Amino acid sequence: MGVFDGRVAIVTGAARGIGRAEAMLLAAEGAKVVVNDLGGGAAGDGADSGPAEAVVDEIAAAGGTAVANTDDIATWSGAESVVNQAIEQFGRLDVLINNAGILRDKMSFSMSEQDWDAVINVHLKGHFCMTRFAGAYWRERSKAEGRPVDAAIVNTASESGLYGNAGQVNYAAAKAGIAAMTIVVARELERYGVRVNAIAPVARTRLTEAVAGDYMKVADGDFDRFAPENVAAVACWLASPLTAGISGQVIKVQGGVVQLLEGWRPLTEATADNPWTIDGVEGVRDQLFAKTDGTIPPFFFPSPAS
Ligand SMILES: NC(=O)c1ccc[n+]([C@@H]2O[C@H](COP(=O)([O-])OP(=O)(O)OC[C@H]3O[C@@H](n4cnc5c(N)ncnc54)[C@H](O)[C@@H]3O)[C@@H](O)[C@H]2O)c1
Repeated sequence: MGVFDGRVAIVTGAARGIGRAEAMLLAAEGAKVVVNDLGGGAAGDGADSGPAEAVVDEIAAAGGTAVANTDDIATWSGAESVVNQAIEQFGRLDVLINNAGILRDKMSFSMSEQDWDAVINVHLKGHFCMTRFAGAYWRERSKAEGRPVDAAIVNTASESGLYGNAGQVNYAAAKAGIAAMTIVVARELERYGVRVNAIAPVARTRLTEAVAGDYMKVADGDFDRFAPENVAAVACWLASPLTAGISGQVIKVQGGVVQLLEGWRPLTEATADNPWTIDGVEGVRDQLFAKTDGTIPPFFFPSPAS
């Protein structure tokens, strides 16, 4: 018995890295999988149907069931076609893992319009387009069956967007948007029985090898902490019925550590009985920036008087 027996899953960007490991694990646990990947370069250039087909072959060789899809999930029609393929080919859809991604790192002052648009498109619009069509399908199914469907979306955020990585303004903005979208869509789809969570992964893939190759080397005798399979286990756990009741959450996985991340929340407070003035706010700035644990946030500039 597999955790995903009888279920149908889509994984976007499933030909390489984390997405490939997710597709392989879903299939090994009994899911029928749509392996979506347009097979382009790490910066989103080009297209090739070979990589998605190779993963489908690997899944079949291991005794699983999968079908390849090479649509661009960052387009309205491409996303609709991936969702339709799952339903037409396998009769239903239960799991959507939004994973496809590219990188075009630049400092903000050197970034081109194309670099901004390409990264925002694949990550932010890609997550949205897939969610839009999968969500519409689940809403219809829930109404037709007269009960909540038992389905799950797992999005792929990144620490880069949650903590802010210099040199990745396009990517970080998209990933922060994906974390926000996770909460919004979790609220919207709850009544139809769809859970929506996100991971913030760290793994050795073609996107990280160039910048973090040495850091991700594994000492002899240690388990492979940065293998994409290590991340896939967390994503698939969130996609599985084991996490019924968990929604709107972002979980980081790096090596042997998983963390539940918390988003924007009030940290300190200053109040006034009269309308705020510039001087009035200046008067409470130290109160505003004094955290209860005595530390000060980064980028805090003390008032000239203190
Ligand atoms: N590797 C890490 O440490 C890390 C850290 C944080 C977040 N992530 C995120 O994890 C996800 C997977 O990244 P990875 O590291 O496995 O990279 P990867 O390059 O190995 O895999 C990404 C896949 O997405 C596919 N893809 C790109 N654009 C697509 C599109 N428009 N339609 C369909 N497929 C498309 C690519 O062809 C590629 O096969 C990304 O969203 C990435 O931002 C990775």
